[in-house]
Amino acid sequence: MPPDLQQTEQIHALLAGRFSPRRFDPSGVVDDPTLHLLLEAARWTPSAGNSQPWGFLPVRPGEPDHARVLPHLAPSSHRWAKDAGLLVVALTRRYVDDTDLLYSEFADYDLGQAVAHLSIQAQAMGLSTHQFRAFDLEALTEELRPRPGWAIVSMIAVGTAADEPPALRERRSTADLRAAPWSTPTA
Ligand SMILES: Cc1cc2nc3c(=O)[nH]c(=O)nc-3n(C[C@H](O)[C@H](O)[C@H](O)COP(=O)(O)O)c2cc1C
Repeated sequence: MPPDLQQTEQIHALLAGRFSPRRFDPSGVVDDPTLHLLLEAARWTPSAGNSQPWGFLPVRPGEPDHARVLPHLAPSSHRWAKDAGLLVVALTRRYVDDTDLLYSEFADYDLGQAVAHLSIQAQAMGLSTHQFRAFDLEALTEELRPRPGWAIVSMIAVGTAADEPPALRERRSTADLRAAPWSTPTA
């Protein structure tokens, strides 16, 4: 096996089994209790100084806000995201209202971690997630008009996967994770 392909057998099944599907089953509904638990998982994420800078707009097919969000997806993500039972617009609070004061230096970091928690909770409930940035950020921001200080960062498609993970999934080796930041290898 090439060094950049890692065996996943020894990590937790929820982590090993996660992948970002490129097809969702359009009949895979995400009901209210499931949506509640996904947000609950995000809510319990650690954050710098417990600042909890995340915000989410969950939209499901048939809901008015779903029809507002969908047109702003790029064709590359629209292809599969339109069939997901749930789309979540993920926002972070970067600034204090309309000032240029940082609300939290770690706002984006903390949002990413909250999305990771949400993703693994989804996985534990038999759902799959595909995070994406392939949408028109400016147009979506104009459409949704978040409060001052808040920024849309990414979206998450959640639903029932209708494909399998690719046979080969490249990852950097754990050795490279340790060596890459340094000009000379550490012992
Ligand atoms: C912040 C972020 C943005 C992403 N944007 C896109 C995207 O625009 N389109 C896409 O198809 N996948 C997108 N992805 C998914 C990654 O391509 C995917 O996670 C990566 O290739 C690893 O594959 P895996 O999730 O199946 O392990 C994004 C993932 C993250 C975390």
